[in-house]
Amino acid sequence: MKITLTLAKADIGSIGGHIKPGERLMKVVNQFVTRRSKGLLIDFYLSHTGDDIAILMTHKRGQNDSRIHRLVWDAFMAGADDARKQGLYGAGQDLLVDSFSGNIKGMGPAVCELEFEERPNEPFLMFAADKTDPGAYNLPLYLSFIDPMYNSGLMLSPSMFKGFKFTIMDVEHTKGDRVIELNTPEEIYDIAALLRDNQRFVVESVHSRGNGEHCASVSTTRLHNIAGKYTGKDDPVMMVRVQGAFPATGEVLQPFKIGHLVAGFMRGSHAGPLMPVKNNSTISWFDGPPIVSATAFCVHKGKLTEPADAFDHPFWDYIRDKVSQKALDIREQGFSGAAMLPYPELEYGGIVQKMNALDKKFRVRREKKAKRKK
Ligand code: F6R
Ligand code: MG
Ligand code: MG
Repeated sequence: MKITLTLAKADIGSIGGHIKPGERLMKVVNQFVTRRSKGLLIDFYLSHTGDDIAILMTHKRGQNDSRIHRLVWDAFMAGADDARKQGLYGAGQDLLVDSFSGNIKGMGPAVCELEFEERPNEPFLMFAADKTDPGAYNLPLYLSFIDPMYNSGLMLSPSMFKGFKFTIMDVEHTKGDRVIELNTPEEIYDIAALLRDNQRFVVESVHSRGNGEHCASVSTTRLHNIAGKYTGKDDPVMMVRVQGAFPATGEVLQPFKIGHLVAGFMRGSHAGPLMPVKNNSTISWFDGPPIVSATAFCVHKGKLTEPADAFDHPFWDYIRDKVSQKALDIREQGFSGAAMLPYPELEYGGIVQKMNALDKKFRVRREKKAKRKK
């Protein structure tokens, strides 16, 4: 049976700053999707990561289906209305256009989709990150699909010997989707050369070269590229099919033990380690550190099993402690150097005004030039 998984996520309002959406808002969105799902969805699951609500849906209508995308848009709009009534902070923040135009991509919410012929048992992972951008998944995807130090299946499982095809998007190109396809293992140095730059080049999808199937999908939205100004970090989602011809669940989770430094954190303008957190976690401290949740499911005839929280395990408590230390270490240096993002990535336009004003105050000293000896 061919099914589609559609995962969409948006910040439509939160309590006490950019902390969490709150129970009433979750309920409103849940009720809306329940009402509208009849005849459209097979199943759905709602969760939040930090201040963003994620809606995972299963259906048979394929990718980029306008009715599914409309449902998501309307659900977030209905939520944003309620958020305004409640006086939640940043109500409707990620809904960047006034009316729906057929596809939710490019309208604010983060979206990723996977379409496939269901295996007899079909496990997959849903990731949702807050206070960071889609490049945050570059390194984990590189390591779990390319590096035998992280994925032992690349050495041990013949179904992975042929490698994978990476589709990578240049997210700075806003006049259309500029993408490149590169194959592993032959082109891994080229892939590394692109993925080094998390703000510009983002993995959009991964396909198996063994069976041709779509196995990973990432939302590639960059809000500031859409809106032309800061409207919040992009807070990306990702889905990865696991086991069999694909990396095992643990091989996909493993790279998240690094707590690698990503862009985001306070005001979307700092570097901070990505902390793997339990599902439905809130944001705290310095509007961060950036967080990521991982929820595992099996899907059967389009029906989702109950969720299994993949980062809810004592091992990840230890990692969270280590990542906290790493976050403290980089925060020690405040605004200086690598702790903040480079100038074009600073998310608040205020810095431009400030630099322009300061620029006018600079002067070049006129010094008498020493006469050269003849
Ligand atoms: C980062 C984020 C927060 C806000 C910060 C200021 O992605 O959402 O760190 O940037 O709390 O928020 P505003 O500008 O809404 O007052
Ligand atoms: Mg927010
Ligand atoms: Mg957010």
